[in-house]
Amino acid sequence: MAKDEFGLAVIGCGTIGRVRAELAREHPGLGWLGVCDIDERAREGLAKDTAADFHTDDFHDLVERPEVDAVIVATDENWHVEPILAGAEHGHRLFIEKPLATDPVESARVLKAIEDHGVDAVVGYTQRFRRRFITSRQRILEGAIGDVTTVVTRAFMNRMVPIATLARTKEHRNLTPMVVSGTHSLDACLWLLEGIEGKQPVEVYAKSGDRVLGEYGTKDNTLAIFTLADGSLWSMNISWALPATWPGAVYGLQIGIVGTSGALDIEDTHRDLVLASEVGQSASVGYAPNDYDTPIPRHVDFLGSKPFGDDTSIGFWGPMREETMTWFNRVLSGRPTHHATAADGHRNLLVTMAMDKSARIGKPVELMPDPAALLID
Ligand SMILES: NC(=O)c1ccc[n+]([C@@H]2O[C@H](COP(=O)([O-])OP(=O)(O)OC[C@H]3O[C@@H](n4cnc5c(N)ncnc54)[C@H](O)[C@@H]3O)[C@@H](O)[C@H]2O)c1
Repeated sequence: MAKDEFGLAVIGCGTIGRVRAELAREHPGLGWLGVCDIDERAREGLAKDTAADFHTDDFHDLVERPEVDAVIVATDENWHVEPILAGAEHGHRLFIEKPLATDPVESARVLKAIEDHGVDAVVGYTQRFRRRFITSRQRILEGAIGDVTTVVTRAFMNRMVPIATLARTKEHRNLTPMVVSGTHSLDACLWLLEGIEGKQPVEVYAKSGDRVLGEYGTKDNTLAIFTLADGSLWSMNISWALPATWPGAVYGLQIGIVGTSGALDIEDTHRDLVLASEVGQSASVGYAPNDYDTPIPRHVDFLGSKPFGDDTSIGFWGPMREETMTWFNRVLSGRPTHHATAADGHRNLLVTMAMDKSARIGKPVELMPDPAALLID
């Protein structure tokens, strides 16, 4: 039965929580808004800017409120689990930022809780809301390139993103290029092949290096070969150690897909929109959680390379708008959408961690592994 209004709790008032809460304020179905952050400045700033009805530093107080029926978990990567469990226990609809968790056993626990409580939960794989991926997926499904034999994925990222991400926490163990950011490209590729028989990954062999970002507590890169169930091959490669002066503010992606009767070449590096300026761009035009800034200004910028969208004088525009507004509609109407499910989020975590494990042990890893087998001693 469709509803007219929903009550929303936003847990985590940083970069992404702010984007989603401000979009909620624009949605005609928003009946009540509560926000939560342990950081007073972030919490009070967002509460004021969105005219929130309630704010607190304790997410339990928020999810218990009778007005709430939907929860956005936008805390930083290592702090998703407890708010998700609290939201699920109260039977709320959940929108969870990726990754579902950073510990594979915790991720399995979270997925089980979501399933046991029967709550509707989605994960923020925002690239699914870009027209280029939606239309590519449709053509593959329609058989335009025949049976897929080969997938090649190259993700390049400016090193400002991992440096800013790692600066938020001392718990770096699972904050690898694939778990934090490559997961977006990985999800996009698996989604492009979703529903096609034989295209599930069954084995991965990977290598990683850490020459530049080792001192920050992470890897520079991960290069992997996946074997799919029918023997087709997928190479998934990421470096998130490109210099801070690299014109891609955040993400540049190329995906090549070859089939038995065609090929699809997705160029998503944003080199078609180049800004050059004598005025140095700061990190804030890219991704700058906690006011992170780079000491080196960038004079050339690939506009559009911030993957979730841009803040502008007319509001936030980009795929995160479509993703968030579509979810609000789902909350109101109950109708299914193409958001990633919690099960997709759990799978993505296991696959990215299997890549990291293969790189660590120097051997292929079979998929899907038991979550406990992915724990780092
Ligand atoms: N979908 C996308 O394209 C996309 C893009 C960037 C980031 N993300 C994801 O969004 C999430 C948030 O990233 P961000 O950039 O907004 O980070 P951020 O650091 O800007 O914000 C996180 C906020 O969570 C708060 N927080 C942490 N623990 C808390 C707790 N227990 N209770 C309440 N508040 C708590 C922090 O104080 C901080 O204000 C991450 O998981 C990140 O990977 C998604």
